[in-house]
Amino acid sequence: MTNEASERRGFEMLKIVVCVSGGGTNLQAIMNAMDEGRITNVEIMAVISNNRGAKALERAASRKIEAILMSPREYSDREAYHEAFTAKMCALDPDLIVLAGFLVRIPPQMVEIFGNRIINIHPSLIPSFCGVGYYGLKVHEKVLERGVKVTGATVHFVNEGMDEGPIISQKAVNVEENDTPELLQRRVMEEAEWILLPQAIDDIANKRIRLIDGKVLRGN
Ligand code: GAR
Repeated sequence: MTNEASERRGFEMLKIVVCVSGGGTNLQAIMNAMDEGRITNVEIMAVISNNRGAKALERAASRKIEAILMSPREYSDREAYHEAFTAKMCALDPDLIVLAGFLVRIPPQMVEIFGNRIINIHPSLIPSFCGVGYYGLKVHEKVLERGVKVTGATVHFVNEGMDEGPIISQKAVNVEENDTPELLQRRVMEEAEWILLPQAIDDIANKRIRLIDGKVLRGN
């Protein structure tokens, strides 16, 4: 988000909605960073999940953050879900939408309305191991199958493509010989995701990031 865009919206405290699908460890990392002062000027308005069983919803509710379930199963078809999800987001009207392990594609109309106000964490070094079919544990399975020696995580703005928006930050993580997908997933989370995502939110909230010609620049 550009400084100009934030000033135009005239916010002080960045109001965010966090979207989650599962365990919610990235959501937890965000909440911990807020508690510890590593994220400032941010308020979580709500947490939205597509999955009734998501532990992330419990994590939100335990902090008295509004926890909202928006399951595609409760709608007649994908288009109806997209419309309802977009309408809900417009009613909340956050300054920033954070996809923190959200494994459902964002409706195109939401991307259009919230252009450059949606960020995503992906568990690889984009443009490797991303795009259709690459999510969650599957990413780490593919990394091990291919035998690469270095992987990592990426935070990026969301555009109409799949994992194709401007890159905000990346961090490399070594692949070890005895890794299983689960071990590698945990190391990528610990060494990269739980650091990068809170940092990116703090950078946006404190206007340290500018988006110029499709690239993210730091500083004023
Ligand atoms: C995380 O590894 C996140 O990067 C990944 O899902 C996991 C969710 O974990 N996201 C994607 O694959 C998006 N394409 P969490 O629920 O414990 O944060």
